[in-house]
Amino acid sequence: MAHMGTSIALLLLMIVLSASISTAQNFKCNSTAKCRTLVGYPSPNTTSIGKIQTLFNIKNLRTILAANNLPASTQKNYTIQAQQVVKIPIPCVCSNNTGVSNKMPVYNIKKDDGLWHIAVEVFRGLVTQDRLQAANNISNPNVIIEGQNLTIPLPCSCDSVNNQKVVHYAHVVEKGSTLESIAQQFGTDKDTLVRLNGIDDSKLLADSAIDVPLQACSSSIRPESLDSSLVVANGTSVFTANNCVKCNCDTANKFTLQCEPTNLKLPNNVTCPSMACDGSDSLTLGNTTTSGCSQTTCAYAGYASNQTIFTTLNTTSTCPGK
Ligand SMILES: *[C@@H]1O[C@H](CO)[C@@H](O)[C@H](O)[C@H]1NC(C)=O
Ligand SMILES: *[C@@H]1O[C@H](CO)[C@@H](O)[C@H](O)[C@H]1NC(C)=O
Ligand SMILES: *[C@@H]1O[C@H](CO)[C@@H](O)[C@H](O)[C@H]1NC(C)=O
Ligand SMILES: *[C@@H]1O[C@H](CO)[C@@H](O)[C@H](O)[C@H]1NC(C)=O
Ligand SMILES: *[C@@H]1O[C@H](CO)[C@@H](O)[C@H](O)[C@H]1NC(C)=O
Ligand SMILES: *[C@@H]1O[C@H](CO)[C@@H](O)[C@H](O)[C@H]1NC(C)=O
Ligand SMILES: *[C@@H]1O[C@H](CO)[C@@H](O)[C@H](O)[C@H]1NC(C)=O
Repeated sequence: MAHMGTSIALLLLMIVLSASISTAQNFKCNSTAKCRTLVGYPSPNTTSIGKIQTLFNIKNLRTILAANNLPASTQKNYTIQAQQVVKIPIPCVCSNNTGVSNKMPVYNIKKDDGLWHIAVEVFRGLVTQDRLQAANNISNPNVIIEGQNLTIPLPCSCDSVNNQKVVHYAHVVEKGSTLESIAQQFGTDKDTLVRLNGIDDSKLLADSAIDVPLQACSSSIRPESLDSSLVVANGTSVFTANNCVKCNCDTANKFTLQCEPTNLKLPNNVTCPSMACDGSDSLTLGNTTTSGCSQTTCAYAGYASNQTIFTTLNTTSTCPGK
């Protein structure tokens, strides 16, 4: 009898352990690369995009607007409904086989805040209380000080998936969803989610973050470019080359990155370098000409520190069967 009691206690312990492991799911990241990834933030209340920008310490509003394909004219007071998911771009670093946002965002502790509240209610399960505590070297989670700054370690990864470059997306699981429904929503498959997260449907927990790989566009960016690690997810845009260039990825362009000059008024009178394509006296970045069956685009190929933007002419056939 006593023996059986021990077995049951052991079994219970194992269940508790496996549950706590699955809630504290880290995103695997075995490369040493740095990259830019996305987290999906379900707003806890009706708020503005500007407030969310501040919460995540995003310098330029346009960075968030581009990630969500919102018009560039959108203002900071643009309303975000409660539960509406906003994609937040974050810089990711890999260490010890775990991906984590690079020292951001930083959250300033308010009166009556607790670690659980900050992890679960403010950051909506994108971070767990345990990870928050460990990342900030807090010995007693019940003692946190108003005015203290906490680094929020958001989950991320820079790994290729199925030998393809992807953008890892931290998705907060909604009640009632399954790995299959999540896979369908984001254009991936259930097996990939199982493998990446090490969980099956029985361990899928609402309000916790799982790693969803988003398909990315192919690009002509050179390996020596300063943004050689740039990977742009389906349905999003990014600014690059010191905000001189904006690139978009979507299905309409068959997952080939489309870039164009931003013509932004940049601070400190920064002027953007020429974006003309060599070997063509009329095409500049983003322009396309068609001649017979062939279509030629002046595509983005990266940038260098000396204020140089690389371009390349890409020719594709537009006739069927070729
Ligand atoms: C990284 O992990 C993936 C699977 O998780 C594996 O296919 C790949 O070989 C690993 N790469 C390195 C450099 O360990
Ligand atoms: C945002 O502010 C502008 C003025 O700065 C105002 O015209 C607009 O109505 C406001 N929009 C919302 C959604 O509050
Ligand atoms: C690295 O990860 C292992 C296993 O997750 C953990 O035991 C170890 O403490 C970690 N090391 C550091 C330096 O974080
Ligand atoms: C909405 O939630 C955010 C994040 O928890 C918080 O900072 C803000 O004060 C809340 N706003 C309102 C009106 O409750
Ligand atoms: C964490 O805190 C302990 C004691 O509070 C201290 O000994 C240790 O050096 C700290 N570690 C880091 C990485 O700050
Ligand atoms: C927290 O960060 C803010 C903004 O960077 C800074 O002004 C403040 O001094 C920091 N507070 C502490 C206690 O480090
Ligand atoms: C790409 O995004 C569109 C909407 O933005 C979506 O309908 C489509 O399923 C996505 N495709 C893939 C393969 O991710």
